[in-house]
Amino acid sequence: MASCLREGHIVFHLPAAILLLLSVTASAAIPCDFPAIFNFGDSNSDTGGLSAAFGPAPPPNGETFFGRPSGRYSDGRLIIDFIAESLGLPYLSAYLNSIGTNFSHGANFATAGSTIRQQNTTLFQGGFSPFSLDVQTWQFTQFVSRSQFFYEQGGFFKDILPGEDRFSKALYTIDIGQNDITSGYFSGKTTEEVRADIPDILNKFTISMKSIYLLGGRYFWIHNTGPFGCLPYVLDRLMLRAPEVDHCGCGTPFNGVAQLFNSMLNETITELRKDLPLASLTYVDVYSVKYKLISQARNYGFEHPLKACCGHGGMYNYDAHVGCGAKTVVNGTEVVLGNSCMEPLKRVSWDGVHYTEAANKWVFNQISEGALKGVLKC
Ligand SMILES: *[C@@H]1O[C@H](CO)[C@@H](O)[C@H](O)[C@H]1NC(C)=O
Ligand SMILES: *[C@@H]1O[C@H](CO)[C@@H](O)[C@H](O)[C@H]1NC(C)=O
Ligand SMILES: *[C@@H]1O[C@H](CO)[C@@H](O)[C@H](O)[C@H]1NC(C)=O
Ligand SMILES: *[C@@H]1O[C@H](CO)[C@@H](O)[C@H](O)[C@H]1NC(C)=O
Repeated sequence: MASCLREGHIVFHLPAAILLLLSVTASAAIPCDFPAIFNFGDSNSDTGGLSAAFGPAPPPNGETFFGRPSGRYSDGRLIIDFIAESLGLPYLSAYLNSIGTNFSHGANFATAGSTIRQQNTTLFQGGFSPFSLDVQTWQFTQFVSRSQFFYEQGGFFKDILPGEDRFSKALYTIDIGQNDITSGYFSGKTTEEVRADIPDILNKFTISMKSIYLLGGRYFWIHNTGPFGCLPYVLDRLMLRAPEVDHCGCGTPFNGVAQLFNSMLNETITELRKDLPLASLTYVDVYSVKYKLISQARNYGFEHPLKACCGHGGMYNYDAHVGCGAKTVVNGTEVVLGNSCMEPLKRVSWDGVHYTEAANKWVFNQISEGALKGVLKC
């Protein structure tokens, strides 16, 4: 695998776009004091949804920050956690969690493995969550009406549920789409076939944004999809099918599809601005930030950007059958096969699919420099 770190020119031809990360509608003024966050998405922002529905993410997930598994697929906090912190809000409770939740400042409808489009396979067959984006918006509909019914009863409910005005003042964060693309590949589609699915995927995305708007959503913060062609699970599982790599070792066809998805997502958001006149939609170019981190890892104090920290074997320390935290029993004794690495704070990929807390924090710092400080003027 070619290391891009030896090629000095990379530093110069990487997106100078960091300053141009955001395109925000000029129409609506964005306040800074969001009283709540409602999040929709996949594992990039799941704070406990899939764990609530299908059983807990195992240790060593959570080891760096929470000191225990927290329902996040990472050693610590996710970008959504850093967003919540920066707005002075508590970490989001997963809507699906029935224990220990507090929704007074928002709710999280994301689950790991979620797609925009409904899948035609179950979680047990294809590995993708049944809580696709449309289902997440149906849950949000239920959340709005049921929370208001109980909020009006007063007492304890006022302590753990949002008041009605919070829905129109909240920040709506969305990070989803990567699994729609990878599920196409995993089901055997070619790059051309996957590319051809993108318009339908984005039509479904549009429908979901409109339903959030009809329920009162006004401030949308939409992450584009990351360079998943640089992730160990894609390199390990799909490289034989499309072996071209760039100077960093990232799969070129996969990142090409991600970039096509992103430019069409950007266009879709431009259209939505016309259809949703009272909304403010921010398109956040997470792709460029993540690619910058992976391609210049050493410059930023990271190492082995294409290798999972927590995993088992192979070129990428990733094995689809032996995940992070996987155990086996040898002669009656439990042995952990999917162990964490020595220095997760220096690593980009946590488990081959998801980013480490250190990487999430770095990405958040990059996007917040242009956004929360600059554009939102907080
Ligand atoms: C599921 O099957 C239907 C009917 O064949 C098809 O239209 C749809 O695109 C499929 N969905 C996905 C995600 O492949
Ligand atoms: C829920 O969170 C709010 C805001 O942080 C806090 O005031 C309230 O005490 C919490 N309620 C419970 C039961 O934890
Ligand atoms: C998104 O599209 C707008 C045009 O509508 C363009 O000005 C902007 O540069 C695009 N953003 C990115 C990050 O590509
Ligand atoms: C399991 O126990 C058997 C019998 O004591 C021994 O021969 C074998 O080496 C052990 N296997 C491992 C992996 O420790």
